[in-house]
Amino acid sequence: MNFRNILLFFCFCLPLMSSAQDKSIILGRPTDTTMTASVMFDQVVEYYLEYGNQSGNYPQTTPTFTSVVNRPEEVVMRNLTGNTQYFYRMRYRSGSTGPFAATPQYTFHTQRAPGSSFRFNLEADEHLYDKKGIRNMYKVTLANQAKDSADFLLSLGDIFGDDHTPDATTSADMNDLHKDYIQYLKEVCHSVPFYVCLGNHEGENGFYLAQNSGQNIAVYGTQWRKYYYPNPYPNGFYTGNTTNEPYGIGTPENYYAWTWGDALFVVLDVYRDCSVNDKPVNWDWTLGFTQYTWLKNTLQNSNAKFKFVFAHHTRGQGRGGVVTAKGCEWGGYSGNAGTNYQFDTYRPGWGQPIHQLMVANDVNIFFQGHDHLYAKEVLDSLVYQEVPMPADSTYEIGMLANADAYTDVKIGGTGHIRVTVTPTCTTVDFVRAWLPADTVGGQHVNGEVAYSYTVGPCSTTAVTDKITGENSVSAYPNPASDELFFQSKRPFTKESSFELIDPYGRPVRATSVQAGGNQGKIGLTGLSSGVYALRWMDEKNVLKVKMVVVK
Ligand SMILES: [Fe+2]
Repeated sequence: MNFRNILLFFCFCLPLMSSAQDKSIILGRPTDTTMTASVMFDQVVEYYLEYGNQSGNYPQTTPTFTSVVNRPEEVVMRNLTGNTQYFYRMRYRSGSTGPFAATPQYTFHTQRAPGSSFRFNLEADEHLYDKKGIRNMYKVTLANQAKDSADFLLSLGDIFGDDHTPDATTSADMNDLHKDYIQYLKEVCHSVPFYVCLGNHEGENGFYLAQNSGQNIAVYGTQWRKYYYPNPYPNGFYTGNTTNEPYGIGTPENYYAWTWGDALFVVLDVYRDCSVNDKPVNWDWTLGFTQYTWLKNTLQNSNAKFKFVFAHHTRGQGRGGVVTAKGCEWGGYSGNAGTNYQFDTYRPGWGQPIHQLMVANDVNIFFQGHDHLYAKEVLDSLVYQEVPMPADSTYEIGMLANADAYTDVKIGGTGHIRVTVTPTCTTVDFVRAWLPADTVGGQHVNGEVAYSYTVGPCSTTAVTDKITGENSVSAYPNPASDELFFQSKRPFTKESSFELIDPYGRPVRATSVQAGGNQGKIGLTGLSSGVYALRWMDEKNVLKVKMVVVK
């Protein structure tokens, strides 16, 4: 063959000779009786899904479909039984004759009944569209998630991006940015339904939405997100945004709520109603009255034992959790100081700001992203949990940039949040991810839990807030009465200070340990009985372990 013929052979013949299809299944929108699968092939094939509630036995099937190359199709597995684990696989063949090949067996779970236990996972700020997100690191975090048997995965946004050149970004660009994640998510989400909560970098905000008769990044972003990822829309199982938007969008699937086991899940979108300008500030940020009213009704009408609310950030502006929680629509005050309450002026007739609404309705944890680190704070008994990045191979992007905006526990590192819900206890674990090169010689351990705490009735009896893994610090005896001893797993690399925090959050004792040391003690003379916390601070991290003082 001459060069031209060789070129033609590679261009036209090799693809035809290849029988290996590139295919993906992304589960989404789980309910008590259905599961939606977004199926995509890079070739024309016939395919169907077969499923049942026993491993290896698939009495139910979907209709047979013919794929369109690289176009995802939503296939719904119907007539499922609630509170049941299902097993399924995809059957497919090229053309319309011959045997169907089979994928490996995958699994999923339908809506859990009250009284059952389950897990879900969280990640935030994947950022693969810029240099902050490293693909090999993301793969490690996803592989760790695959071991969790979670019922679903929720991304807290800044996943698809990219809004940095809003006027130059085309629909084709947005297609690429959204499709890019399929290659990674497909390794996990064939068995873990995927939800997305919108971040600021998705570009789906109200200001862009209104521009150029639908030729803008907000419309492109919504269209391509819906094209690849089946987020919930209001349908009797889910509630959410019922607005029908133009440009082929329909319901934007941007905010939604559902119940799973003993827990209520509420996912907010803090961007779509911000239509003032491209740099909204302060009171410009809003859920919009419709979403706010839906949130209020959703919280008030739920009698779930646990209530979780999710958003990319309290507002699209600034950094921090409780530091921002007093401000504007979130807390009702102009400014973060919390001294000038103006909610009724700026939101007349609404009632309570979002934070107060969550506290009044017994929300247990507000989960957010945006700041790229693990941080946990409590305001008015409501936990503010900042979710770390899954793809940061430096392990410290958020700690370097945003740690100052957090007031309590904050830890460097990369990974995901694993939440285990039982009828009496919700346990929140930070599962750290390390690249293989960083685990050599036991330097770090991929998949270890760095920090763990519980909320719910169990928290009043069990010791919560545990530092585990390589940063582990243990305090003993527990309960303690005269002296509290503490010891770290590894010698401190920097001088570390320790404070004993009383039940009212006040530091009442302090000591320090020099670099190279790994233990110390604190005298308890003069203290009252109660649940105290030992807070360890080195140069960057602030970690806390709870313990009981008995007098
Ligand atoms: Fe963000």
